[in-house]
Amino acid sequence: MRFQNRVVIVTGGANGIGGGCSRVFAGEGGRVAILDRDEQAAFQLADELTATGPGSAKAYRCDVSQPDELRATIEQVVADSGRIDCLINNAGIHPPSLLLNETSLDILETVWRVNFVSTFVASQCAVPHLKITQGTIVNISSMTAVLGQHGSTAYAATKAAQVGFTKSLAIELGPHGVRVNAILPSNIDTPLMHEWANTLDDPASALDRVAKLQVFGRMGSPEEIGRTALFLATDDSSFLTGQALEVEGGASLDY
Ligand SMILES: NC(=O)c1ccc[n+]([C@@H]2O[C@H](COP(=O)([O-])OP(=O)(O)OC[C@H]3O[C@@H](n4cnc5c(N)ncnc54)[C@H](O)[C@@H]3O)[C@@H](O)[C@H]2O)c1
Repeated sequence: MRFQNRVVIVTGGANGIGGGCSRVFAGEGGRVAILDRDEQAAFQLADELTATGPGSAKAYRCDVSQPDELRATIEQVVADSGRIDCLINNAGIHPPSLLLNETSLDILETVWRVNFVSTFVASQCAVPHLKITQGTIVNISSMTAVLGQHGSTAYAATKAAQVGFTKSLAIELGPHGVRVNAILPSNIDTPLMHEWANTLDDPASALDRVAKLQVFGRMGSPEEIGRTALFLATDDSSFLTGQALEVEGGASLDY
């Protein structure tokens, strides 16, 4: 019960890595606010987590790429729950593989708004509440922020932006007792991963190839990222801030 009665906001918390975070925090007694544009999955998971306990969850339909909607939703969470102890900026999209010249400004702006502007705006809204609880922010970035990825200039740039943001905000909020860290996952078995594989000629062999990139010969699970986020959200990591934690199953080893 490492998060008992504390409140966590998980953007994109209905599926994939966000879903793993919602499950882990509710499993430790937390009260989870699931913000997602996938209303059906959000309400279904919230019902399931509340029924299972020991924590609980509440779903909020929200498109995080719309700043006004995101601000209003976070204020609603505070009105409902009375506090925020952790904000997990997880919602993100990955456009199909595109070379620089094929990446329109429309695509860049869409990815930028979902992946980065939402991180910025949600943090702005949550910080006054996190100062009260001495809470934490966890940004779900990506190993592509430091390694790059072929055909992903727009995506990787948004993920690198999250890392620079994490470090600068950690400096600003350290004196207030608020810690800010980022998680950089490698390949995690989520709906996004399968959607990407399905755009390729041979999805099964693509997924097999991706699994073998980690030294364990498998992808990570959403719950493994959720447990790392829990570590960053509790006093177990009380001397850790501004870090870009590479949770990558050894994928960057053996160069
Ligand atoms: N899966 C991976 O291998 C991997 C690796 C590195 C980083 N990441 C990052 O992890 C995060 C989650 O990825 P995932 O693989 O779990 O994706 P996913 O597509 O499986 O799940 C994303 C969730 O976010 C929600 N979402 C997307 N856009 C939204 C919006 N505008 N407003 C509200 N909700 C929105 C979706 O409805 C979904 O519930 C992303 O930021 C991604 O960049 C994923």
